[in-house]
Amino acid sequence: MIGVFDSGVGGLTVVRALMEHLPGYDIVYFGDTARSPYGTKSPATVTRYALEDARRLLAEGARVIVMACNTASSLAPEVVRQTFGVPVFDVITPAVEAALAATRNLRIGVIGTRATVLSGIYETRLRQRAPGCRVYSAACPLLVSLVEEGWLRRPETAMITKKYLLPLKTRGIDTLILGCTHYPVLAEVIQRKVGRRVRLIDSADGLARQLADFIAGPAGKDLNLPQTGRHRFLFSDLTDHLAGIARRLIKGHLNLELVRT
Ligand code: DGL
Repeated sequence: MIGVFDSGVGGLTVVRALMEHLPGYDIVYFGDTARSPYGTKSPATVTRYALEDARRLLAEGARVIVMACNTASSLAPEVVRQTFGVPVFDVITPAVEAALAATRNLRIGVIGTRATVLSGIYETRLRQRAPGCRVYSAACPLLVSLVEEGWLRRPETAMITKKYLLPLKTRGIDTLILGCTHYPVLAEVIQRKVGRRVRLIDSADGLARQLADFIAGPAGKDLNLPQTGRHRFLFSDLTDHLAGIARRLIKGHLNLELVRT
């Protein structure tokens, strides 16, 4: 099974891409809604949560882990890899590759949670690959709550988004990394506020392609991942409101299961 985790519903934007690129493959998703958000927590806490999330997915039968959370991906992929010795995919690598392929002026914006931005992961990785590029980052802590609230088309959301994006817009970026898996849900308003000429980069498709390539290769084939089309969605806290948002994100009927942490 492919195990995917996030702090909440944001990782479902990645699951959507996985279902498209890897139809038939069994997926188990864990959204740690009881402890969300992760982006406001310390690196030590995020790392502990990431290890616990991966352990849970492995106990459910996952053989490969997708960290569908930028916050966890910016702090903990190495420790998860070393602790469990399974293939681990993070959302940073595909976003970095896609941004570098898209930019023409090497001025790249990054938005993410406070923890992701403070980690400096995108600056580090972008500059390693393209030393001349300029990276401008902004933490947008309120956006996760707006998505989880379902406030996608409210004027308040547009106003907050505009305020967050203004400092990046004035830097002349031509590419903007949506460095949080919740943000693609707000892509429309983000695009409007940052300007039509800026390319928005989200890691879901790149990650799904990277995983599909891996699965088609020798190491992936050895894992013998089941393909019975089973999709399970586990959450550490479940409300009707959250279930509604999750179903809207996946665009279909979902069987949501409550699990205790
Ligand atoms: N969706 C997550 C991310 O990509 C985290 C949101 C949060 O829990 O703060 O960073």
